[in-house]
Amino acid sequence: MGTDVKMLNMETLCAGLAARAGNAPVVLLISGGVDSTVVAALLLKTLSPSQVHLMYMDTGLMRKNETAQVKAMLEKLGAKHLHILNCEDEFLGSLKGINDPETKRKTIGDLFIRIQEREVERLNLLPSYFLAQGTIRADVIESSGGIKSSDVIKSHHNVGSPLAEAKRREGRLLEPLDELYKDDVRTLGRLLGLDEEVLRRHPFPGPGLAVRIPGEVTKEKCDILREADALFIEELKKRSLYDDIWQAFAVLLPVRSVGIDGDRRNYGWVLALRAITSTDGMTADVYPFPPRDLLEIAALITKKVRDIGRVTYDISCKPPATIEWE
Ligand code: XMP
Repeated sequence: MGTDVKMLNMETLCAGLAARAGNAPVVLLISGGVDSTVVAALLLKTLSPSQVHLMYMDTGLMRKNETAQVKAMLEKLGAKHLHILNCEDEFLGSLKGINDPETKRKTIGDLFIRIQEREVERLNLLPSYFLAQGTIRADVIESSGGIKSSDVIKSHHNVGSPLAEAKRREGRLLEPLDELYKDDVRTLGRLLGLDEEVLRRHPFPGPGLAVRIPGEVTKEKCDILREADALFIEELKKRSLYDDIWQAFAVLLPVRSVGIDGDRRNYGWVLALRAITSTDGMTADVYPFPPRDLLEIAALITKKVRDIGRVTYDISCKPPATIEWE
């Protein structure tokens, strides 16, 4: 059950945060998603902006134009210490040759931590800094080390990481959203004055496009997927379908298929489109697309992204499937 955020007393939440952090620096890793953005807004509202360090890593696994958008949004929120790190080579390098989904997640999660530790040291924030995270209730439940001892479905890098656990033991971990479900987080963001466009943005996983590229991740595949995904999302917005859908994205399958491009043979990648409805991401139904929209969008993608030869629509609910492919 979602916490009723209207009952959530903002003053109490802010006072609690301020009392815990005192004057110590607070580091928050920003993903560009709703959760960490809401935590950023909460920290900047509650604490002195000069003690809040927002760190964003461009992993090379981000959506199209994401870094520029995140930077603009955080500056608008009044961020003073905004650390935008270009880590594409490091992330793609460490993913080389890895096919297994959990190994990918662990590799990315570990690298996030290593870079974060390196930066914290470089910024001279050791040892007294607090670590803030945008963990929400669904992350806690679905990940290992969560409240329920259910089997690990996927390791979410931001839950139960060694760094976060060390900070928890020190009493220096701030997870102000850990009782809230996605919709509650959006309501809180609204109370904090965040733009509707930011709040209504579909969720995006911490490991980014890596979990939407089954098999080995390469820069070339990320670039193809970024283009296709951006077209899909742009079309959903143009067609006023975006807000009816809880989450939509494209997946680049490790499959090539034969097609025709003019009078030539084309051996392009297969793309899967995914669009689901949900209330909290714990279960999901397939979005019943008007067939015409789906056909037009697929045609547009194969026309504009020449490396994609074929488009499919994923008609799997959660359960038994999960929302992301890995
Ligand atoms: P699944 O694929 O587990 O996803 O059905 C449920 C929701 O969680 C998002 N997701 C993640 N979010 N870190 C995150 O912050 C992650 O590692 C992660 N993996 C999945 C997913 O996009 C969906 O909204």
